[in-house]
Amino acid sequence: MICTFLALVSILHQVMAAQRERTFIMVKPDGVQRGIVGEIIKRFEQKGFKLVALKFVWPSEELLQKHYADLAGKPFFPGLIKYMSSGPVVPMVWEGLNSVKTGRVMLGATNPADSAPGTIRGDLCIQVGRNIVHGSDSVESANKEINLWFTEKEVVGWTPANEGWVYED
Ligand code: RTP
Ligand code: MG
Repeated sequence: MICTFLALVSILHQVMAAQRERTFIMVKPDGVQRGIVGEIIKRFEQKGFKLVALKFVWPSEELLQKHYADLAGKPFFPGLIKYMSSGPVVPMVWEGLNSVKTGRVMLGATNPADSAPGTIRGDLCIQVGRNIVHGSDSVESANKEINLWFTEKEVVGWTPANEGWVYED
């Protein structure tokens, strides 16, 4: 009886740990130019997510075409690549329970005109073509984007000292 209970607790722990997924968040060139990098990092840190990778890079058009490959047929695609390659960006990987879905909620709607106050886009930008930050839209996209922007060694597994105060189990 006790063994069964312990086995169930163990399975529950494994399921919870599995949901501590990773998401790819990137401050876009306008976010860097406007000095909003710290604010965006602050919001993810204060939420309780764990930073596991970060870099400062001026991305090539080739890399951005791969990153936004699913939008290649859209009329705004050439403008999007020009915008995203216009200066340095800050790609990051954040880890935590439901980080992909919650990360998108924290960013707000794609068009800042529709983003709720309190969200990053809702508070800090105005137009869809200058919406300061990117966030993965699914766990599958997150894995693809993380592999595109970071090597395996650049993503660092670690345990924050406050983890027991962020999660109950
Ligand atoms: P992101 O990938 O950058 O996080 O944005 P998202 O998922 O909210 O939106 P998505 O449909 O993936 O679009 C990618 C980026 O393209 C620009 N965009 N411009 N002019 C337009 O109508 C338009 N629509 C999208 C935005 O910068 C958007 O974030
Ligand atoms: Mg997207």
